[in-house]
Amino acid sequence: MKIVACNSNTPLAEAMSAYLNLPLTKASIRRFSDMEVFVEIQENVRGEDLFVVQSTSYPANDNLMELLVTLDALKRGSARRITAVVPYFGYARQDRKSGPRTPISAKLVANLITTAGADRVLTIDLHAGQIQGFFDIPLDNLFAAPVFIKDIKKRFDGAGLMVVSPDVGGVLRARAIAKPLNADLSIIDKRREKAGVSEVMNIIGDVEGRCCILVDDIVDSGGTLCNAADALMDAGATVVTAYITHGVLSGGAVARVTASALDKLVITDSIMATEAVRVSNNIEQLTIAPLMAEAMRRISDESSVSSLFH
Ligand code: R5P
Repeated sequence: MKIVACNSNTPLAEAMSAYLNLPLTKASIRRFSDMEVFVEIQENVRGEDLFVVQSTSYPANDNLMELLVTLDALKRGSARRITAVVPYFGYARQDRKSGPRTPISAKLVANLITTAGADRVLTIDLHAGQIQGFFDIPLDNLFAAPVFIKDIKKRFDGAGLMVVSPDVGGVLRARAIAKPLNADLSIIDKRREKAGVSEVMNIIGDVEGRCCILVDDIVDSGGTLCNAADALMDAGATVVTAYITHGVLSGGAVARVTASALDKLVITDSIMATEAVRVSNNIEQLTIAPLMAEAMRRISDESSVSSLFH
C-alpha cells in the first residue's frame, strides 16, 4: 500500500503515515501561475494499492480539485486500486434539493470523485449516512464516537452526564455516544430560517443542574453550537462541553466560540487547525489519525473495518 497526501491536511496524513510506518509517496501537488492544479507522482505506483488523503475543507473547491487531479494522475499511473481518504467530506450538507431549481451537490461531488478514478472512499462522520448511496463504489464511513467516548470518560469520570443533540437530525449520533456512557439524552428543537443562521426553539428534556455534552458532526459558523450552549445554560445546565467531529469554523466562528457560554469545544483533526484554533483557550483537538490509518490498513489487508465502529 502507498499513501499520497494532498495539501489540505498534511499533519493528519503524516500522522497516518507514522502509524502505518509507511513513508508518504513522493508527489508534487502545485499550482500553475493561473492557479490551475498540477500533480506529479514522483514514484512508480503501477499495480499498487493507493490511498489519497485529502479533506475537502476550506478552500473547498481548490481542495476538491486537488483530490480529483491526484486521483486522475494515479489512475493514469496504473495504480491497482485507489481509495480516496476524505476525512472531512465537503458539500455533504447539500444532500437534497433544498428548494426549487437547487442542486444536489453532494451527489455531484460523489460522481466527480468516482469519475476521477477512486475505487473506494474512506471518510468519517458523513453529514448524512445516506450519502453513501450517492456512490456506486464501496464507502466506509467511520465514527469519531469511540475517540470522543474515551475522552469524555477521562474528563467526566462518574459525572451524571446529559448528552444533547443540537437538532433533531443529530439524535442518532448523540444516542450513539449517550448509550455507552449510560448518559441521558436531550434534544434541542432547532429551526433554521435561512442558511447559516440558526435559532433555538425548545429543549426536550430537563437539563437543570446537569453537566451537558453537546454532540454534532459539524461546527461551521458556530451559530448552532453557541445558541444551543446559551439555551442549555439558561435552562439551568451547570456546564456545557461540545464534541464535534469536523471543525469547519468559518468566518468569525472561533471568536464566537471563545466568547460563548461553552466550557470547551472538542473537535478532531479531520480539518487542519488554523492558527486561531491552535491558540484558542476553549477549543481542543483530538486525533483521528490512528483510527483512520487502522481502517486504511484493514482495507489494504481486506480485513474487517466494522470492528472499528465500537
Ligand atoms: C446541521 O445539520 C449540522 O449537523 C450542523 O449542526 C451545522 O452544519 C452547524 O452549522 P453552524 O455552525 O453554521 O450552525
